Amino acid sequence: MLRRGECVAIPTETVYGLAADATRPDSVARIFAWKGRPAFNPLIVHGSSYEALLPYAHFNPLAERLAKAFWPGPLTLVLPKKETIPEIVTAGHATVAVRVPNHPLTLTLLRELDFPLAAPSANRSGRISPTCARDVMDEFEAFPLGILDGGPCSIGLESTVLYVPQEPDRPPKILRPGGVALETLQAFLGQPIDIESTASPEAGYRSPGLLSTHYAPSKPLHLISPEEPHDPPPRAAWIGYGATTPSGYDKIWNLSTAIDSIEAAPRLFQALRAFDRDPTLLVAYAWEWPEEGLGRAINDRLRRASTKKNLP
Ligand code: TXA
Ligand code: MG
Repeated sequence: MLRRGECVAIPTETVYGLAADATRPDSVARIFAWKGRPAFNPLIVHGSSYEALLPYAHFNPLAERLAKAFWPGPLTLVLPKKETIPEIVTAGHATVAVRVPNHPLTLTLLRELDFPLAAPSANRSGRISPTCARDVMDEFEAFPLGILDGGPCSIGLESTVLYVPQEPDRPPKILRPGGVALETLQAFLGQPIDIESTASPEAGYRSPGLLSTHYAPSKPLHLISPEEPHDPPPRAAWIGYGATTPSGYDKIWNLSTAIDSIEAAPRLFQALRAFDRDPTLLVAYAWEWPEEGLGRAINDRLRRASTKKNLP
């Protein structure tokens, strides 16, 4: 199907992707159409290895070091694109996002193909990313989509998107927090790096996909601080963590009793989807995570999923 230019959903360690031949504009156009994705939001190009991606992006020495250290894995590098990547993939940008996913089935698939795969998360635009084949089916019920079932995603949150500037003295910048923690990148680079703030887009480089609301369930979700006492209304769900759970909620999703963000990550989107599906629940209250490790990425997704900033 992929060789014919069609779309196939593929498993990765982060989330499922909606994949097609990254070198064919017609195939990539189908991804945008099926997802209902705005044309200004560029896609990630997936390859089987660093070497396999060399024909598609310019790697400077820092990008090469990062690729060799973190691939296959949940790190996406934003680098100057080569001519081999059609403009539709990068939404007209001079940069292309590339990564090598760490999933045995998809790595085998990528090695079999003589082209890389453009793949956004396999959800309809603005919805929660799918972390198992069932989720993908729910998203694309009406489409003749082939799904490669590779089981549940081990990380369960999208990759970290890192912009690597060409100037050697400028530090890289995280455009989207994800599966590789800020602390891990800082330790590797031996210097502090910034996370591009979606709230204050000052100078620098922004990820076009972060402009809008994302990851949203269809019902209200509020992000609350664990320190604030909260009296839930009827038919409310709690999405939190820790050894003791608060009372008064009709449904509890404890993402990690040990407050371990790595354990919590693959449960987050599952909880958001289950909340969405349960007709008895009207509203969810999610506890903010400590801003460290994968807690940053979890908070980022929860902030995007939350509807109102003020509680009723
Ligand atoms: O884990 C993942 O990254 C998954 C799996 C399937 O690989 N993919 C994924 O793709 O999350 P998507 O399309 O849902 O998110 C890609 C993000 C978007 O925020 C997009 O704006 C950003 O990467 N991006 C892609 N190309 C870019 C570029 N040239 N410059 C800046 N940001 C870019
Ligand atoms: Mg997405």
